Amino acid sequence: MKKALIINGSPKANGNTMKVVNIFKEFFDGETEVINLYAHLSSDNKGCQTCIDCGGCERAAGCVVKDKFQDILRDDFDIIILAFPIFYSNATSAVFNLISRFNFMYNNKKHLGIKHNFKEKTSALIILGGGSACESLQGCSNEDSPIKQGRFILKKLNAPLRDDNIITVLNTDDIKIEDNNGLKEQIKRLTARLG
Ligand SMILES: Cc1cc2nc3c(=O)[nH]c(=O)nc-3n(C[C@H](O)[C@H](O)[C@H](O)COP(=O)(O)O)c2cc1C
Repeated sequence: MKKALIINGSPKANGNTMKVVNIFKEFFDGETEVINLYAHLSSDNKGCQTCIDCGGCERAAGCVVKDKFQDILRDDFDIIILAFPIFYSNATSAVFNLISRFNFMYNNKKHLGIKHNFKEKTSALIILGGGSACESLQGCSNEDSPIKQGRFILKKLNAPLRDDNIITVLNTDDIKIEDNNGLKEQIKRLTARLG
């Protein structure tokens, strides 16, 4: 049985992101584990904190900061689902915290000659937006930034993202997840691809 790690980058426990995640869980025929990146939602009240450049990874393998990032480093799953809402045309701050934590790989290699190898996994990226695109809300043209940010994380985790495994759920300000025709079918097809 396959195991999927679901990384929730929304600050809401039962927000739109988790509603989509719940649809995924409904169709996925395997085990799931959810990690909440935001501290206030996390079982350890820490979530995934930002890298503070403590230097621990210059002296010891891995990351010395004990929080939910350690659960991601366990690497005992076959699939990663990264899900987050767009905040001002970007990923949320908790997702940026996660990006910063890959600093341990750079320092382990540079200072200790240790190359961290994640096992190869499959992945999907679920991104939500209240509007139809970032540009229309922001007057800027970086609407693909959240996708690039998500792709970067998944690549670091050795779970390269296939384009057809990107699910964008837009216009959530006007269309409730429950009323989003086609979303269930889209997620169902995703779970079939992920196996
Ligand atoms: C601070 C903030 C910034 C946001 N910026 C954007 C944005 O740039 N583009 C967009 O489409 N939606 C934006 N939204 C809307 C959210 O992405 C949308 O409501 C999403 O469904 C929230 O998911 P959640 O309920 O899991 O938090 C923003 C929401 C907040 C709170």
